[in-house]
Amino acid sequence: MADADVVRVKAKKGKAAAKGKPAKAPARTKTLKTSTKAKAAKAHVKTAAKSKAGKTLIKAIRTATKAKAGKGVIKAIKAATKAKAPARAKAAKPKVAKASAKPLKTPAKAKPAKAPAKAKIKALKAPVRSKSSKTTANARAGSRKPVLRDVPFKVTNPERIPVQRYYDQEFYDLECKYLWPKVWQMAARLEEIPQVGDWVEYKILEKSIIVIRTKSGVKAFHNACRHRGVEVASGGHGNCATTGFICPFHGWRYDMEGKNTFVFNRQIFSPAQLDQAELNLKPCRLEEWGGCAFINFDDDAAPLLECIKPFADMHDPRKVENLKVEWWLSCDLPTNWKLAMEAFQEGYHVMRTHPQLHAVNIPNKGPHSYNDPLVGKPRTFASGKEFAEAFIANMKVLGEGMGGMIVETDIAVAERIVDKVALSDDMNVAPQEWMLALNDAITKDARARKIDMPDLNEIGPVGPDNYCFPHYFLLPQYGNMSSYRIRPMGPERCLFELYSLRFYPEGTERPIPRAPEPMPPDDPRWPPIPIQDFSNLPKQQLGLHAEGFEYMRLSHAKEGLISNYHRVIDGFLAGVDTETLAKGIQVTCTPLDEAVHDLGF
Ligand code: FES
Ligand SMILES: [Fe+2]
Repeated sequence: MADADVVRVKAKKGKAAAKGKPAKAPARTKTLKTSTKAKAAKAHVKTAAKSKAGKTLIKAIRTATKAKAGKGVIKAIKAATKAKAPARAKAAKPKVAKASAKPLKTPAKAKPAKAPAKAKIKALKAPVRSKSSKTTANARAGSRKPVLRDVPFKVTNPERIPVQRYYDQEFYDLECKYLWPKVWQMAARLEEIPQVGDWVEYKILEKSIIVIRTKSGVKAFHNACRHRGVEVASGGHGNCATTGFICPFHGWRYDMEGKNTFVFNRQIFSPAQLDQAELNLKPCRLEEWGGCAFINFDDDAAPLLECIKPFADMHDPRKVENLKVEWWLSCDLPTNWKLAMEAFQEGYHVMRTHPQLHAVNIPNKGPHSYNDPLVGKPRTFASGKEFAEAFIANMKVLGEGMGGMIVETDIAVAERIVDKVALSDDMNVAPQEWMLALNDAITKDARARKIDMPDLNEIGPVGPDNYCFPHYFLLPQYGNMSSYRIRPMGPERCLFELYSLRFYPEGTERPIPRAPEPMPPDDPRWPPIPIQDFSNLPKQQLGLHAEGFEYMRLSHAKEGLISNYHRVIDGFLAGVDTETLAKGIQVTCTPLDEAVHDLGF
């Protein structure tokens, strides 16, 4: 993308944001900030009162009441002792009022869809609950349920996605505040840290996390020195087995378990500032699945597998944890992170975006063959052999440059058996006969090369491109896979990563994969299919700003995944409880071309 285009995006964004942004509520911000400070002050006083040093501190604070400078502190502490949960809830009220004032254009203009799933979709169009009725209901029931926040540009018609969600600064800020700190994120591949002491950095928005292999397992820590906050790990990766982490500012040290092991000139600090537990690096939740470390900033979030169970169930039989990175590419895309993901959530675009792929597409290839009666005219074949040859042609085009999705040995095996397999000329039977023969041959070929390949016929078919909320994909076809991860870098910029993942014979030495330098979307090193997908995205990001373009319209049958995950995002922004959100996330764990589904909230 040219610089001029970037300027154009920014200028349009500013214009649109100015147009649609409601008046700020400075009073609320001030109230919440004071409340947080007061809470911290109260906690501090409580802790301090327990220790001898603390008593001295309290005394000092009392003395400070006489001094002008101390009055502000005392005021905050006094306010804290009075501040209780209901008072805080009250303080948050203006926020809801502010959000309610924002017009939601889509529902007013939305017409009911004439679709087979009409009744189901209608049920999904739940009216936005009014703040007052919910608050009253909660008060009546004495419920402790959190009051749901109103969400600007909420998806109220599951077939329509308001465009502001892809560039509005306020919406992006809400995602930063209520989505990313509360979701499980694929932070690292475990082969990035093969040895004890190996660590890699995972960055998301302004936050940096150290993922480290310790003697007692893989752990994660917030990358901030407990003295004055400097990042203790820099350079993206390293090994700290012998040196630990040494803060570059004043030299405080930490071991691989995050324990603070050294404070330079300890005696110059009050004992109350040197509590060991507080000096240790702050841990971050981490769980492993599928050869990856997933992190979550939210201690109250549901466990990883409770969120991504359908995705894990799809891939566990495929021994996904044994895959290793063959290569890793990344792209600096001038688009919102969600837009980049959505280019890989439906096959409807293949006809126009990937004409070479469309030309070799075949029906009955799998459950997600896009060239079906709903989308285009199916091809027909005169014999089983003709079908198999067309299938191989498809494999070659689909796999070009895509690494693990379809590897060269898959194609070689298919070419080797095509003349040997007896296939029926009945097209109701031949595709299945061919798939069984091909899966069997690929499995045997890999095992003959000492690869622990799962039996592809035993584990059954799987979607070709499967989504794991919020930003991870696996693309399995014949055992090996490709993978995507997408991270936001601003309202209209994201980092797109593509991994080729392969099985290797046990004991094969592989180079440790390292995060690549991002390439532009039109870099000729990109394989044909992603470069075609990327070519649309900057144009789409600009098009979303067009005057009068208020929402994307989705196919309820083929583009439902886009709707499903957007509505889960709304659940996070609204503050839906974690258990319900986990169930909603499970609904999004599907292959591409999914229909619109009920999320349960
Ligand atoms: S900020 Fe790390 S030692 Fe001072
Ligand atoms: Fe595509």
